[in-house]
Amino acid sequence: MSFPTHRYRRLRQSEGILRMVRETSLSTDDLIEPFFVCEGINVRQEISSMPGVCRLSINNLVAEVKAAYALGIPAVILFGIPDKKDELGSEAYNPDGIVQRAVREIKNAVPNVVVITDVCVDEYTDHGHCGIVKNGKILNDATLDILSKMALTHAEAGADIVAPSDMMDGRVQAIRKTLDETSHQETIIMSYAAKYASAFYGPFREAAGSSPQFGDRCSYQMDPANATEGLKEVFQDVEEGADIIMVKPALSYLDVIYQVHREVNIPVAAYNVSGEYSMVKAAAQKGWVDGDKVMMEILLSIKRAGAQMILSYFSREAAKFLDR
Ligand code: PBG
Repeated sequence: MSFPTHRYRRLRQSEGILRMVRETSLSTDDLIEPFFVCEGINVRQEISSMPGVCRLSINNLVAEVKAAYALGIPAVILFGIPDKKDELGSEAYNPDGIVQRAVREIKNAVPNVVVITDVCVDEYTDHGHCGIVKNGKILNDATLDILSKMALTHAEAGADIVAPSDMMDGRVQAIRKTLDETSHQETIIMSYAAKYASAFYGPFREAAGSSPQFGDRCSYQMDPANATEGLKEVFQDVEEGADIIMVKPALSYLDVIYQVHREVNIPVAAYNVSGEYSMVKAAAQKGWVDGDKVMMEILLSIKRAGAQMILSYFSREAAKFLDR
Protein backbone atom coordinates (compact mmCIF):
# COMPACT_ATOMS: atom_id res chain seq x y z
CA MET A 1 0.00 0.00 0.00
CA SER A 2 2.04 2.83 -1.24
CA PHE A 3 2.09 6.59 -1.17
CA PRO A 4 0.55 8.74 -2.63
CA THR A 5 -2.49 6.48 -3.15
CA HIS A 6 -2.56 5.70 0.53
CA ARG A 7 -2.13 8.44 3.06
CA TYR A 8 -2.65 7.17 6.61
CA ARG A 9 -2.92 10.71 7.91
CA ARG A 10 -6.33 10.94 6.18
CA LEU A 11 -7.77 8.92 9.07
CA ARG A 12 -6.19 11.20 11.67
CA GLN A 13 -7.52 14.53 10.54
CA SER A 14 -10.27 15.17 13.07
CA GLU A 15 -11.47 14.09 16.48
CA GLY A 16 -14.56 12.53 14.90
CA ILE A 17 -12.54 10.40 12.49
CA LEU A 18 -10.13 9.41 15.25
CA ARG A 19 -13.06 8.24 17.34
CA MET A 20 -14.41 6.16 14.44
CA VAL A 21 -11.18 4.30 13.75
CA ARG A 22 -10.07 3.85 17.36
CA GLU A 23 -9.33 0.16 17.98
CA THR A 24 -9.21 0.05 21.76
CA SER A 25 -11.34 1.75 24.32
CA LEU A 26 -11.26 1.72 28.06
CA SER A 27 -14.28 1.84 30.28
CA THR A 28 -14.82 1.76 34.01
CA ASP A 29 -16.01 -1.84 33.52
CA ASP A 30 -12.39 -2.83 32.88
CA LEU A 31 -11.14 -1.69 36.27
CA ILE A 32 -10.62 -3.43 39.60
CA GLU A 33 -9.42 -1.35 42.54
CA PRO A 34 -7.12 -2.86 45.19
CA PHE A 35 -7.58 -1.91 48.86
CA PHE A 36 -5.51 -2.53 51.99
CA VAL A 37 -7.61 -3.20 55.07
CA CYS A 38 -6.30 -3.03 58.63
CA GLU A 39 -7.60 -3.26 62.20
CA GLY A 40 -8.94 -0.26 64.12
CA ILE A 41 -11.59 2.40 63.61
CA ASN A 42 -11.26 5.47 61.43
CA VAL A 43 -7.78 4.50 60.32
CA ARG A 44 -6.58 6.14 57.12
CA GLN A 45 -2.84 5.80 56.92
CA GLU A 46 -1.22 6.90 53.69
CA ILE A 47 1.44 4.62 52.27
CA SER A 48 4.44 6.85 51.75
CA SER A 49 5.61 5.20 48.54
CA MET A 50 2.10 5.15 47.06
CA PRO A 51 0.66 8.69 47.23
CA GLY A 52 -3.12 8.57 47.43
CA VAL A 53 -3.26 4.94 48.57
CA CYS A 54 -4.04 4.22 52.23
CA ARG A 55 -4.35 1.45 54.73
CA LEU A 56 -7.96 1.66 55.81
CA SER A 57 -9.91 0.30 58.74
CA ILE A 58 -13.11 -1.48 57.82
CA ASN A 59 -15.40 1.51 58.34
CA ASN A 60 -13.33 3.73 56.04
CA LEU A 61 -12.88 0.90 53.57
CA VAL A 62 -16.63 0.46 53.20
CA ALA A 63 -17.03 4.17 52.45
CA GLU A 64 -14.28 4.08 49.82
CA VAL A 65 -15.63 0.94 48.16
CA LYS A 66 -19.00 2.66 47.97
CA ALA A 67 -17.38 5.66 46.31
CA ALA A 68 -15.51 3.48 43.81
CA TYR A 69 -18.67 1.59 42.92
CA ALA A 70 -20.53 4.87 42.47
CA LEU A 71 -17.88 5.92 39.94
CA GLY A 72 -18.68 2.81 37.88
CA ILE A 73 -15.94 0.49 39.06
CA PRO A 74 -17.53 -2.97 39.29
CA ALA A 75 -15.01 -4.75 41.49
CA VAL A 76 -12.48 -4.40 44.28
CA ILE A 77 -9.72 -6.68 45.55
CA LEU A 78 -8.84 -6.81 49.23
CA PHE A 79 -5.48 -7.30 50.93
CA GLY A 80 -5.48 -7.83 54.68
CA ILE A 81 -3.03 -6.37 57.17
CA PRO A 82 -3.48 -8.41 60.33
CA ASP A 83 -2.29 -7.35 63.77
CA LYS A 84 -0.89 -10.81 64.48
CA LYS A 85 1.53 -12.78 62.34
CA ASP A 86 2.91 -16.25 63.02
CA GLU A 87 4.93 -18.98 61.36
CA LEU A 88 1.93 -20.58 59.64
CA GLY A 89 0.00 -17.41 58.88
CA SER A 90 -2.94 -18.75 60.85
CA GLU A 91 -4.77 -15.40 60.89
CA ALA A 92 -5.20 -15.85 57.15
CA TYR A 93 -7.90 -18.49 57.67
CA ASN A 94 -9.50 -17.12 60.82
CA PRO A 95 -13.22 -16.87 59.96
CA ASP A 96 -13.20 -13.58 61.89
CA GLY A 97 -9.96 -12.31 60.40
CA ILE A 98 -9.59 -8.83 59.00
CA VAL A 99 -10.44 -9.69 55.38
CA GLN A 100 -13.31 -12.00 56.30
CA ARG A 101 -14.93 -9.24 58.40
CA ALA A 102 -14.27 -6.66 55.70
CA VAL A 103 -15.96 -8.81 53.05
CA ARG A 104 -19.06 -9.19 55.23
CA GLU A 105 -19.29 -5.45 55.89
CA ILE A 106 -18.81 -4.54 52.25
CA LYS A 107 -21.42 -7.06 51.14
CA ASN A 108 -23.86 -5.57 53.66
CA ALA A 109 -23.29 -2.01 52.58
CA VAL A 110 -22.65 -2.36 48.83
CA PRO A 111 -24.17 -5.71 47.88
CA ASN A 112 -23.61 -5.38 44.15
CA VAL A 113 -19.91 -4.62 44.13
CA VAL A 114 -17.88 -7.68 43.13
CA VAL A 115 -15.57 -8.55 46.00
CA ILE A 116 -12.30 -10.30 45.18
CA THR A 117 -9.94 -11.48 47.91
CA ASP A 118 -6.23 -12.08 47.58
CA VAL A 119 -5.40 -15.58 48.76
CA CYS A 120 -1.81 -15.74 49.97
CA VAL A 121 -0.20 -15.97 53.38
CA ASP A 122 2.72 -13.55 53.00
CA GLU A 123 0.91 -10.78 54.87
CA TYR A 124 0.14 -13.22 57.69
CA THR A 125 3.44 -15.06 58.19
CA ASP A 126 6.18 -13.69 60.43
CA HIS A 127 8.80 -14.69 57.82
CA GLY A 128 6.90 -12.94 55.01
CA HIS A 129 6.96 -15.85 52.56
CA CYS A 130 3.96 -17.06 50.57
CA GLY A 131 4.12 -20.58 51.97
CA ILE A 132 5.07 -22.72 54.93
CA VAL A 133 8.79 -22.61 55.62
CA LYS A 134 10.89 -25.55 56.78
CA ASN A 135 14.68 -25.51 57.01
CA GLY A 136 14.78 -22.36 54.93
CA LYS A 137 12.68 -23.91 52.13
CA ILE A 138 9.18 -22.90 51.08
CA LEU A 139 7.07 -26.06 51.08
CA ASN A 140 4.63 -26.46 48.22
CA ASP A 141 2.17 -29.22 49.13
CA ALA A 142 1.93 -28.36 52.81
CA THR A 143 0.90 -24.82 51.84
CA LEU A 144 -2.04 -25.98 49.69
CA ASP A 145 -4.08 -26.88 52.73
CA ILE A 146 -3.67 -23.42 54.27
CA LEU A 147 -4.54 -21.71 51.00
CA SER A 148 -7.65 -23.85 50.64
CA LYS A 149 -8.78 -23.02 54.18
CA MET A 150 -8.13 -19.33 53.56
CA ALA A 151 -10.13 -19.35 50.32
CA LEU A 152 -12.97 -21.19 52.03
CA THR A 153 -13.27 -18.60 54.82
CA HIS A 154 -13.34 -15.86 52.19
CA ALA A 155 -16.09 -17.64 50.26
CA GLU A 156 -18.04 -18.18 53.48
CA ALA A 157 -17.77 -14.48 54.24
CA GLY A 158 -19.31 -13.72 50.84
CA ALA A 159 -16.39 -13.12 48.48
CA ASP A 160 -17.47 -13.49 44.85
CA ILE A 161 -13.97 -14.26 43.61
CA VAL A 162 -10.91 -15.71 45.34
CA ALA A 163 -7.55 -14.84 43.82
CA PRO A 164 -4.60 -17.05 44.78
CA SER A 165 -1.34 -15.11 44.38
CA ASP A 166 1.11 -17.45 46.07
CA MET A 167 2.46 -19.37 43.02
CA MET A 168 2.44 -22.77 44.71
CA ASP A 169 1.90 -25.57 42.17
CA GLY A 170 -1.53 -27.17 42.29
CA ARG A 171 -3.25 -24.52 44.35
CA VAL A 172 -6.07 -23.82 41.91
CA GLN A 173 -7.00 -27.52 41.93
CA ALA A 174 -6.80 -27.69 45.72
CA ILE A 175 -8.92 -24.56 46.20
CA ARG A 176 -11.50 -25.65 43.59
CA LYS A 177 -11.83 -29.03 45.29
CA THR A 178 -12.31 -27.49 48.73
CA LEU A 179 -14.86 -24.98 47.45
CA ASP A 180 -16.80 -27.63 45.56
CA GLU A 181 -16.89 -29.98 48.53
CA THR A 182 -18.34 -27.22 50.71
CA SER A 183 -21.11 -26.13 48.32
CA HIS A 184 -19.24 -23.11 47.02
CA GLN A 185 -19.43 -24.19 43.40
CA GLU A 186 -20.35 -20.63 42.44
CA THR A 187 -17.24 -19.01 43.87
CA ILE A 188 -15.01 -17.83 41.05
CA ILE A 189 -11.25 -18.41 40.98
CA MET A 190 -9.09 -15.69 39.46
CA SER A 191 -5.61 -17.12 39.51
CA TYR A 192 -2.43 -15.09 39.46
CA ALA A 193 -1.20 -17.59 36.90
CA ALA A 194 1.86 -15.90 35.40
CA LYS A 195 3.26 -13.99 38.34
CA TYR A 196 6.84 -12.87 38.01
CA ALA A 197 9.43 -12.34 40.76
CA SER A 198 9.39 -8.59 40.26
CA ALA A 199 11.02 -5.58 41.88
CA PHE A 200 7.88 -3.66 40.92
CA TYR A 201 6.16 -5.06 44.04
CA GLY A 202 8.38 -2.94 46.33
CA PRO A 203 5.81 -0.32 47.41
CA PHE A 204 3.15 -3.00 47.98
CA ARG A 205 5.43 -4.76 50.41
CA GLU A 206 5.81 -1.52 52.35
CA ALA A 207 2.01 -1.14 52.32
CA ALA A 208 1.31 -4.69 53.41
CA GLY A 209 4.38 -5.21 55.59
CA SER A 210 5.06 -8.41 53.65
CA SER A 211 8.72 -8.31 52.67
CA PRO A 212 10.37 -11.72 53.02
CA GLN A 213 12.53 -11.77 56.14
CA PHE A 214 15.13 -14.00 54.47
CA GLY A 215 15.91 -14.79 50.84
CA ASP A 216 13.57 -13.82 48.03
CA ARG A 217 10.59 -15.19 46.14
CA CYS A 218 12.54 -16.61 43.20
CA SER A 219 11.84 -20.24 44.10
CA TYR A 220 8.12 -19.77 43.50
CA GLN A 221 7.48 -16.61 41.47
CA MET A 222 8.59 -16.72 37.83
CA ASP A 223 11.82 -15.63 36.21
CA PRO A 224 11.18 -12.34 34.33
CA ALA A 225 13.11 -13.76 31.39
CA ASN A 226 10.49 -16.42 30.63
CA ALA A 227 7.42 -15.91 28.45
CA THR A 228 6.78 -19.49 27.25
CA GLU A 229 6.84 -20.62 30.84
CA GLY A 230 4.16 -18.03 31.55
CA LEU A 231 1.93 -19.79 29.03
CA LYS A 232 2.66 -23.13 30.68
CA GLU A 233 1.59 -21.73 34.06
CA VAL A 234 -1.55 -20.29 32.51
CA PHE A 235 -2.53 -23.53 30.74
CA GLN A 236 -2.07 -25.47 33.93
CA ASP A 237 -4.29 -23.12 35.94
CA VAL A 238 -6.98 -23.25 33.25
CA GLU A 239 -6.88 -27.05 33.43
CA GLU A 240 -7.09 -26.97 37.20
CA GLY A 241 -10.26 -24.90 37.03
CA ALA A 242 -9.33 -21.21 37.02
CA ASP A 243 -12.18 -19.05 35.69
CA ILE A 244 -10.03 -15.98 35.08
CA ILE A 245 -6.27 -15.89 34.78
CA MET A 246 -3.92 -13.04 35.54
CA VAL A 247 -0.57 -11.79 34.35
CA LYS A 248 1.42 -9.75 36.85
CA PRO A 249 3.03 -7.22 36.70
CA ALA A 250 1.52 -5.63 33.59
CA LEU A 251 3.80 -3.05 32.05
CA SER A 252 7.03 -4.95 31.62
CA TYR A 253 4.99 -8.01 30.63
CA LEU A 254 2.71 -6.69 27.88
CA ASP A 255 4.13 -9.35 25.57
CA VAL A 256 3.06 -12.05 28.01
CA ILE A 257 -0.44 -10.55 28.26
CA TYR A 258 -0.62 -10.52 24.49
CA GLN A 259 0.44 -14.13 24.10
CA VAL A 260 -1.80 -15.37 26.88
CA HIS A 261 -4.78 -13.49 25.46
CA ARG A 262 -4.26 -15.18 22.09
CA GLU A 263 -3.89 -18.65 23.56
CA VAL A 264 -6.66 -18.99 26.14
CA ASN A 265 -10.41 -18.71 25.86
CA ILE A 266 -11.12 -17.46 29.36
CA PRO A 267 -10.87 -13.83 30.51
CA VAL A 268 -7.41 -12.41 31.08
CA ALA A 269 -6.67 -9.93 33.86
CA ALA A 270 -3.48 -7.93 34.35
CA TYR A 271 -2.17 -6.34 37.52
CA ASN A 272 -0.83 -2.81 37.11
CA VAL A 273 1.26 -3.21 40.27
CA SER A 274 2.40 -0.86 42.99
CA GLY A 275 5.79 0.04 41.49
CA GLU A 276 4.16 0.92 38.18
CA TYR A 277 1.84 3.26 40.06
CA SER A 278 4.55 4.81 42.23
CA MET A 279 6.87 5.55 39.30
CA VAL A 280 4.18 7.59 37.58
CA LYS A 281 3.26 9.41 40.79
CA ALA A 282 6.89 10.27 41.52
CA ALA A 283 7.60 11.56 38.04
CA ALA A 284 4.36 13.54 38.00
CA GLN A 285 5.16 15.11 41.38
CA LYS A 286 8.45 16.28 39.98
CA GLY A 287 6.67 17.72 36.97
CA TRP A 288 8.56 15.41 34.64
CA VAL A 289 5.49 13.81 33.05
CA ASP A 290 1.81 14.62 32.83
CA GLY A 291 0.56 12.11 35.42
CA ASP A 292 -3.03 11.92 34.14
CA LYS A 293 -2.04 11.39 30.53
CA VAL A 294 0.59 8.81 31.38
CA MET A 295 -1.91 6.98 33.59
CA MET A 296 -4.48 6.75 30.81
CA GLU A 297 -1.88 5.71 28.24
CA ILE A 298 -0.63 2.94 30.51
CA LEU A 299 -4.11 1.57 31.19
CA LEU A 300 -4.95 1.71 27.49
CA SER A 301 -1.77 -0.16 26.61
CA ILE A 302 -2.62 -2.97 29.03
CA LYS A 303 -6.09 -3.28 27.49
CA ARG A 304 -4.64 -3.14 23.96
CA ALA A 305 -2.23 -5.95 24.82
CA GLY A 306 -5.23 -8.15 25.57
CA ALA A 307 -6.24 -7.74 29.21
CA GLN A 308 -9.96 -7.60 29.71
CA MET A 309 -9.62 -6.59 33.34
CA ILE A 310 -7.03 -4.33 34.91
CA LEU A 311 -6.25 -4.29 38.61
CA SER A 312 -4.96 -0.80 39.25
CA TYR A 313 -4.41 1.69 42.06
CA PHE A 314 -5.32 4.31 39.44
CA SER A 315 -8.86 2.95 39.10
CA ARG A 316 -10.77 5.78 40.75
CA GLU A 317 -8.62 8.52 39.25
CA ALA A 318 -8.98 6.97 35.80
CA ALA A 319 -12.73 6.43 36.20
CA LYS A 320 -13.18 10.20 36.21
CA PHE A 321 -12.00 10.30 32.59
CA LEU A 322 -13.95 7.26 31.42
CA ASP A 323 -17.40 6.32 30.20
CA ARG A 324 -19.27 3.78 32.21
C1 PBG B 1 1.17 -11.47 47.45
C2 PBG B 1 0.97 -10.30 46.56
C3 PBG B 1 1.91 -9.33 46.21
C4 PBG B 1 1.25 -8.42 45.37
C5 PBG B 1 -0.06 -8.86 45.26
N1 PBG B 1 -0.21 -10.04 45.98
C6 PBG B 1 3.30 -9.12 46.65
C7 PBG B 1 4.34 -10.10 46.41
O1 PBG B 1 4.19 -11.07 45.66
O2 PBG B 1 5.39 -9.89 46.99
C8 PBG B 1 1.87 -7.21 44.74
C9 PBG B 1 0.93 -6.20 44.23
C10 PBG B 1 1.56 -4.89 43.91
O3 PBG B 1 2.80 -4.73 43.88
O4 PBG B 1 0.79 -3.96 43.68
N2 PBG B 1 0.18 -11.53 48.45
